Amino acid sequence: MTDSLTIHRPDDWHLHFRDGAIMRDVVPFTARQFGRAIVMPNLTPPVTTTALAAAYRDRIMVAVPEGVSFTPLMTCYLTDTTDADDLARGAATGVFTAAKMYPANATTNSAAGVSNIENLYPVLARMEADDIVLCIHGEVTDHDIDVFDREKEFIDRHLRGLVANFPKLRVVFEHITTSDAVDFVLASGPQVAATITPQHLHINRNAMLVGGIQPHNYCLPVAKRETHRLALRKAATGGSGKFFLGTDSAPHLKRDKESACGCAGIFGAPYALESYITVFDEECALDQFEGFASLHGPAFYRLPVNEDTVTLERAEVAVPACLHVTGEEIVPWHGGQVLGWRFVG
Ligand code: NCD
Ligand code: ZN
Repeated sequence: MTDSLTIHRPDDWHLHFRDGAIMRDVVPFTARQFGRAIVMPNLTPPVTTTALAAAYRDRIMVAVPEGVSFTPLMTCYLTDTTDADDLARGAATGVFTAAKMYPANATTNSAAGVSNIENLYPVLARMEADDIVLCIHGEVTDHDIDVFDREKEFIDRHLRGLVANFPKLRVVFEHITTSDAVDFVLASGPQVAATITPQHLHINRNAMLVGGIQPHNYCLPVAKRETHRLALRKAATGGSGKFFLGTDSAPHLKRDKESACGCAGIFGAPYALESYITVFDEECALDQFEGFASLHGPAFYRLPVNEDTVTLERAEVAVPACLHVTGEEIVPWHGGQVLGWRFVG
């Protein structure tokens, strides 16, 4: 039995740092485990320009603890009025690593998202020409579509056409939650990949709705039925370079989660690697963990693999029921549970 695993330092290919005091308190959790992270731009107001992204990156860097090497990789929030020249300049000067497409109102702080994806085609053409990665929140927002069907519907209504129209555009289908998404990514060319969160590997929708409503298991896209969770586990642990780690760590204060209209988002950063490796262990796929966590993402983004390493060992870790950011309570993913793996460093 493998009791200790040392791998190249992983990266987190999708997360939310927020801004201000909360950002200063959450960045260290990620910087402790990961070498880089793709930082989502859904602030209020959103990060829509090179100048806004450069300033945001500077604020994040101030929050990285002394002596810790961590690089935030910035994304441009695409809107109906995105300036393709500014995006291209931001990418060429290394400010932007990718651009993010939210269908308008799909999730937290996405009101400024794209109202009609086809309207964005001129910007996508420029991204394809300049080889800028597109990250997609893949859910339709139509009120007549059941929330559990919104990802599959997005594939059929938009993603298939988009990928066919821009065959060279590199696309990350983010935080996938369905077997439909797994099948779509596997059937697409090497320019299409996906991130998978720890929560969608651990829970199905019962965890959100059985035994009382469980706000700390609520995120978007919502967890689906068990067959989908099993398909995600197979995809993550199966060795394909098309799937890689993206926590979608989305910190919301405990009181904002436990309210009459609870926020969507799970704060996965503090015990992220412990959470993921548990899944690989359960699937007898520890040998595939480094690929998913540390190698597939850099290969897709065409970035070097981190040179340093981290070690995880088999040991019990009690995850606190509550942590504190800005002096306020926040519930981490797995809060109150005991995990079987420890992050050594
Ligand atoms: C994210 C957030 O809170 O910003 N929430 C979530 O449930 N994942 C937004 C997102 O990525 O959808
Ligand atoms: Zn997200």
